[in-house]
Amino acid sequence: MGKTQLGVIFGSRSCEREVAIISAVQLMNHVDSEKYDVIPVYISEQGVWYTGSALRKIETFRHFSPDVPGVEQVELDMTAGSGALLATRPGKGLFGHPSRVMVARLEVCVVVMHGLNGEDGTLQGMLELANLPYTSTGVAGSAIGMDKIMMKQFFRGAGLPVLPGAWFTRSRWETAREQVLDEAEAQLGYPVFVKPANLGSSIGVSRADDREGLADSLDLAFDYDRRVLVEKGLDRPIELNCSVLGYDNEVEASPIEMPISAEKFLDFKEKYLASGGSKGMASLHRVLPAPIPDELRDEIQQLSCDIFRMLDCKGVVRIDYMWDRATDNVYITEINTIPGSLAFYLWENAGVKYQTLIDRMVRCAQRAHEDKNSRNYAFTSDILKSVSLGAKGAKGAKGAKGVKL
Ligand SMILES: Nc1ncnc2c1ncn2[C@@H]1O[C@H](COP(=O)(O)OP(=O)(O)O)[C@@H](O)[C@H]1O
Ligand SMILES: [Mg+2]
Repeated sequence: MGKTQLGVIFGSRSCEREVAIISAVQLMNHVDSEKYDVIPVYISEQGVWYTGSALRKIETFRHFSPDVPGVEQVELDMTAGSGALLATRPGKGLFGHPSRVMVARLEVCVVVMHGLNGEDGTLQGMLELANLPYTSTGVAGSAIGMDKIMMKQFFRGAGLPVLPGAWFTRSRWETAREQVLDEAEAQLGYPVFVKPANLGSSIGVSRADDREGLADSLDLAFDYDRRVLVEKGLDRPIELNCSVLGYDNEVEASPIEMPISAEKFLDFKEKYLASGGSKGMASLHRVLPAPIPDELRDEIQQLSCDIFRMLDCKGVVRIDYMWDRATDNVYITEINTIPGSLAFYLWENAGVKYQTLIDRMVRCAQRAHEDKNSRNYAFTSDILKSVSLGAKGAKGAKGAKGVKL
């Protein structure tokens, strides 16, 4: 059997593009080269697709230029099941015609995207149309997991523990600032956390302790998104994160980490720049496994597996929690359907090497793809043979006859 052609798709038009580049290069360094040929697929800030061996090196992205050797612009053939990456090469000589060439054929896609245009169900939808196996959660689960407002409503509807919140649109904020402040204050009091609906990595997230601070936080969050969540704040909660890996009936929770923050909350700097930024989420200060009671660990692992199933997740996700020591309550902060560094360090702690984690993610992608294609698409009826759109259609056609094109 030949090697599997493993497309690693990363980058994209997202505020978290750089984090995704680090996660992807890290992942490509750990792929088992006996089993897979890695095909890097980088989507640039402008939404242009590239492939080539230079995209496996982090240096290429310091000042990315499409002209560096070993990088070529490509497009994915969207024909269902094709997986072809096509490049247009200039013709030879003065009168040579440019030619379309297939530079690779993707068999399985590992999606390493954080944020919009990649983690949010859009790329997943494209891969569903292209009928290619891919490693992340599907369209609906990815979309709900990305949108903090919908996610909260989903969890609340499922009876799961989330903090109270209120949400507002930019147009309302622009036209009724005082009303918005009144509503948020009346419903939630202080402190609150203000978050753009569709972002991650703490970008645009801030804490407000009074009305003036809330106005500033809303201004900041609305710079990033049209919809903003205001959430009741906890005072220095203990943060606990748990990864879940699998698909369908095979679901497993990782050990739990406790990220440590020196600030009031974990901001972008702490998440990624804690030790020079070279390791992505793996560089964060943390205690692993978290020093928490066994019952709490079991509860969080069980809850994480339940959430994974509810959102029909696939591959590896990370679900974050806040433990309020004052009340001993645990709340879900969010789900990351494509976590920073693919949460490999949590699996390593459970004795699963990164290489094996990638194998398992690929297997999940293949199983989901097999399930999808074993659905009965063959259902046919004879309606097209017998249908006639009658007089209306015919009239339209008649009318069209007289029109000169
Ligand atoms: N309600 C809250 N109370 C206290 N701290 C919070 C609250 N919500 C968020 N935080 C802090 O802000 C960080 C980022 O919030 P989060 O909802 O996870 O957004 P992101 O998707 O940007 O990571 C959390 O890791 C936590 O440190
Ligand atoms: Mg978070």
